[in-house]
Amino acid sequence: MGKKKLYIQTFGCQMNVQDAQKMAVLLEESGYGTTDDPEQADLILVNTCSIREKAAQKIYSQLGRFRELKERNPRLLIGVGGCLAQQWGDRFFRRVPYLDLVVGTHQIHRLPEMVGELERAGGRIVETGFCDRVGSLDIPAQPAAGAVSTFVTIMQGCNNFCAYCVVPHLRGREQSRPLPEILREIETLTAQGIREVTLLGQNVNSYGQTLPGETDFTQLISAIGKVPGIGRIRFTTSHPKDLSPRLIACFGEIASLCEHIHLPVQSGSDRVLRRMNRGYTAEAYREKVAELRRVCPEISITSDVIVGFPGEEEEDFQQTLELMREIRFDNLFSFHYSEREGTAAVGMDRPVCEGVKRERLRALQALQAAHTLEKNRACVGRWESVLVEGQNRNGCEEMTGRTRGNRIVHFPGRTGLIGKTVSVRIGEAFAHSLRGEVEERGGADVH
Ligand code: SAH
Ligand code: SF4
Ligand code: F3S
Repeated sequence: MGKKKLYIQTFGCQMNVQDAQKMAVLLEESGYGTTDDPEQADLILVNTCSIREKAAQKIYSQLGRFRELKERNPRLLIGVGGCLAQQWGDRFFRRVPYLDLVVGTHQIHRLPEMVGELERAGGRIVETGFCDRVGSLDIPAQPAAGAVSTFVTIMQGCNNFCAYCVVPHLRGREQSRPLPEILREIETLTAQGIREVTLLGQNVNSYGQTLPGETDFTQLISAIGKVPGIGRIRFTTSHPKDLSPRLIACFGEIASLCEHIHLPVQSGSDRVLRRMNRGYTAEAYREKVAELRRVCPEISITSDVIVGFPGEEEEDFQQTLELMREIRFDNLFSFHYSEREGTAAVGMDRPVCEGVKRERLRALQALQAAHTLEKNRACVGRWESVLVEGQNRNGCEEMTGRTRGNRIVHFPGRTGLIGKTVSVRIGEAFAHSLRGEVEERGGADVH
C-alpha cells in the first residue's frame, strides 16, 4: 500500500521545528510519510508562530497559497499547529474557512487520533487545552538524515512573563524532561551520527525545577559531557537573571561545552528593563558577562535586543548602543517591538511610533554589523576547531562547519570529513562567515 503523504511547514523558533519533527514521527504510525512537495500531499500541517505580528502575517499568506490545492483536491486535509494555533483556537476557522484542524501546543500527542477522525468522519477539529504534563515532551524528534548536529528539547513553557512576550501565554508553565530520558535520547542520537547537541528550552537555567529531587541544569550538562560520541554541547536560551555562578563555572570545566552563550539582554536601559519585567539591571548583565569572560576568555556572546518598547526614549536607546559598544557582542538578533495580544505591555503608555522604531533598528543593526565583522576579522590567522556539517550550499567544492564559538567556516575539503572535527586555519573573514584551509599534518581527529 502506498503511503499517504504529509507536508509540514514550520515558522518560528527551533522549538517549533522540533515539534514538527515529532508530528512527523507520530503520524508515521498513521501511515504518513513526509514529502517536500505540497502538491503531492494528503495532509498539510503548518506549524505556526506568534512571536511578532510579521510572523503571523506570513503564515496567513502561506495558508492562502494552500487554498488552491484544497479546491483542486477536496480530500486534502489542512491543519495548523504551534503558537498562533494556540492563540487563535477556533477563530482560525473564521479567518481560514478551508482549514480542517487546529492543534494547540499541548495537544500534539493526540494528532494521530484527530487526523484519524477527520479521515473517517470529516468535519473540523480544534484542540487547544493545556495539560499539566505535555504529552509530546518525551517524544524524541527525528533529525534530518545525515545530520551531525541537532537540538534536544529539555523543557517546555516559560514562567517569566516578560511584558512583551506571548510565549508563556501560548506554551504554558515550565516543565522539564527527566534527566535519564534526555540522556537516552542523546545516546540514540550518537548512534545515528550526531556529534553536537544544542539543549533547547525558553529558559534552560531553570531546568529541573519541576522535577522531583535536586536535579539542575549543570548536572544535566555534566552528564551529557560524559556521553561517548558527543564532542560538543550547546544550549539556548539562558535568561540573564538566572545565570548561576555554577553554570558560568561549567565553561571552564566541561571540555565538550562550547565556548558560546546566547544571553538576550533586550535593552541597555534599567528603566526599560524594569518595564519589560526582565528582573535584572544593565549593570548586573555587565557583571555576568565579565564573569563569563573571566572563566572563559574566548567565549562568544550573542544576544537579542528589542527596540521601541513602550516608553523607550532616545536616552534609553543610547544606553543600549553604549552597552553594545562596551560588551561587543559576537552577534546580535534585533527586533522592533511588536504588540502581542494578551501580554502585559498591551496598552502601556508612551508607545514609540513606527518611524522611530525603524530608525533605531537601522542604527543598531549598522553598529552590530561593524562589531560582528570586527570579531570575525579577529579570527584571521587563528587555528579553529571545526565540526564539519556538510557541503557548502553555494554549490562549489567546499565544506562547511562551525567553530566552537558558533561561527560558520567554509573550506576546501572532502565529503568524507562530514561528522569529523578538523583544525582549520582561518584566512578570510566576512560579514556572516569565515574561510580557511584545513590542517595538512595531523588531519582529522575522529570522535
Ligand atoms: N526565551 C527566549 C526567547 C524568546 S523569543 C528568551 O527569553 O530569550 C526570542 C526573542 O524574540 C526574544 O529574545 C525577544 O528579543 C524577541 N521578542 C519576543 N517578543 C517580542 C515582541 N513582542 N516584539 C519584538 N520582539 C520580541
Ligand atoms: Fe518570553 Fe521572557 Fe519567557 Fe523568553 S523568558 S520566552 S522572552 S517570557
Ligand atoms: Fe514563536 Fe512560539 Fe517559538 S511564539 S518563537 S513558535 S515559542
